[in-house]
Amino acid sequence: MTLDFDPLAADYDRLRPGGRAWEELSERTLTALGDFRRLVDVGCGTGRFAAFAKARRGGRVWGVDPSTEMLRRARERPDAGGVGWKQASAERLPFTGGWFDAAHMHLVVHTLADRPAALAEIARVLMPGGRIAIATFATEHFERFYLNPYFPSIAPLDRARFPGPAVLAAELGEAGFREAAVERISQPVSAEPHDVLERVRGRYISTLHLLEPAEYADGLARLERDLAAGQGPFAYSLEWALVAATRE
Ligand SMILES: C[S@@+](CC[C@H](N)C(=O)[O-])C[C@H]1O[C@@H](n2cnc3c(N)ncnc32)[C@H](O)[C@@H]1O
Repeated sequence: MTLDFDPLAADYDRLRPGGRAWEELSERTLTALGDFRRLVDVGCGTGRFAAFAKARRGGRVWGVDPSTEMLRRARERPDAGGVGWKQASAERLPFTGGWFDAAHMHLVVHTLADRPAALAEIARVLMPGGRIAIATFATEHFERFYLNPYFPSIAPLDRARFPGPAVLAAELGEAGFREAAVERISQPVSAEPHDVLERVRGRYISTLHLLEPAEYADGLARLERDLAAGQGPFAYSLEWALVAATRE
């Protein structure tokens, strides 16, 4: 199913702040991309990575997203001078073929209605030798997610939504990429009780929008009870797969 990200936009950066773990992953993503002159961040959301890449590397950077509200936040960013923004979907990118030498997606592949079409479209706008880097959650992420005890459907929903790294690598091969390589990155993190409550109330991950209303209400009530009884902070780990490949 296609999820509309407009309603998540206003609180997206507040409920999902960047921080040290995000910066570490972004640095490793830039390393996986290698040198580039023109980068497209597909599904750029509020523009965080596009701004980061532009500040770190310079060059020409474009952020693309179909959501009007996510893109509005991106355009308003004070730290993204020189980044170009376009409203479009990954399946139909408004660029001439071979224009870019780097492409990136962070937590986007699970939202795509037609992933093979999107990967083929990204291959079209990349020049031969261009690089793609895709950051997504590895399967292990869902097994140990800190909200699983409260919302038992999150893990099965996300296992079904997120393609595993081997699937992604195979799909990249079919879309015209070679030498797909998977890097696993494990980041221990912890969340304070008041932040957890705010995140869950704000449905900070799209999967919380997919739960049955009764499961959401029950999980939230149990979480509120546990936190009132002194539970937390919550220690868990972000389990990433960084899948990179080269355009043939
Ligand atoms: C979980 S958010 C990630 C945003 C950003 N990459 C980040 O990491 O902060 C997923 C993003 O994918 C975008 N998206 C959904 N369907 C898409 C599509 N078909 N093509 C490109 N982006 C899409 C959504 O609008 C949303 O901004």
